[in-house]
Amino acid sequence: MSGGAAGGSPRLAGRRVLLGVTGGIAAYKTPTLVRRLREEGAEVEVILTRGAAEFVTPLALETVAGRPVRQALLGPGREPALEHLRLARWAELVLVAPATAHFLAKAAAGLADDLLDTVLLAAFPAAPLLVAPAMNSRMWSHPITRRNVALLRELGVRFVGPETGRLAEEESGVGRMSEPERIVEEVVRLLAG
Ligand SMILES: Cc1cc2nc3c(=O)[nH]c(=O)nc-3n(C[C@H](O)[C@H](O)[C@H](O)COP(=O)(O)O)c2cc1C
Repeated sequence: MSGGAAGGSPRLAGRRVLLGVTGGIAAYKTPTLVRRLREEGAEVEVILTRGAAEFVTPLALETVAGRPVRQALLGPGREPALEHLRLARWAELVLVAPATAHFLAKAAAGLADDLLDTVLLAAFPAAPLLVAPAMNSRMWSHPITRRNVALLRELGVRFVGPETGRLAEEESGVGRMSEPERIVEEVVRLLAG
């Protein structure tokens, strides 16, 4: 690795990355992704969808991010947290990894029924959006997913992956989330440009 992790100068020093994690099995890789981003010097805020919290614990992500993980539009006392506006202004780049078919459909439709979608509507396109899809190859090649991806690309959303390889259900095909190292390289490239 050419960046901070290898002892070189960190390439994301002080850069503010908002990571949205959605409910796919590849969410188990996100603590590693957060570590790699932080090794490059980035500050990382994490938003988990309800689905994502089934696959990776907030505690694991909080520990590697060094700050609380956000999950809800309302605070613990049901007060409006207004975190979506603060986070949207804070983010220099929004990264969604893994991105489910469900997330892509909601993003393409402009829906905003959870914290991540709401932040996105407030943050993008002022902040670039990088998406790392992960799903079964049949979900990835489904005509509605193809249409959603095409629309998001047309709107300026950037994609990394998915890769071809072994999938969770012992199948092989396209749909595997890119490895954290490849995603970090894409973040570096986007923030440098
Ligand atoms: C075991 C299991 C694994 C799943 N893996 C994926 C996946 O890799 N990609 C995907 O798009 N959906 C996957 N799903 C379906 C999503 O969890 C489901 O669509 C959920 O509503 C996504 O919500 P979110 O996008 O708001 O996190 C999986 C579901 C289960 C039960």
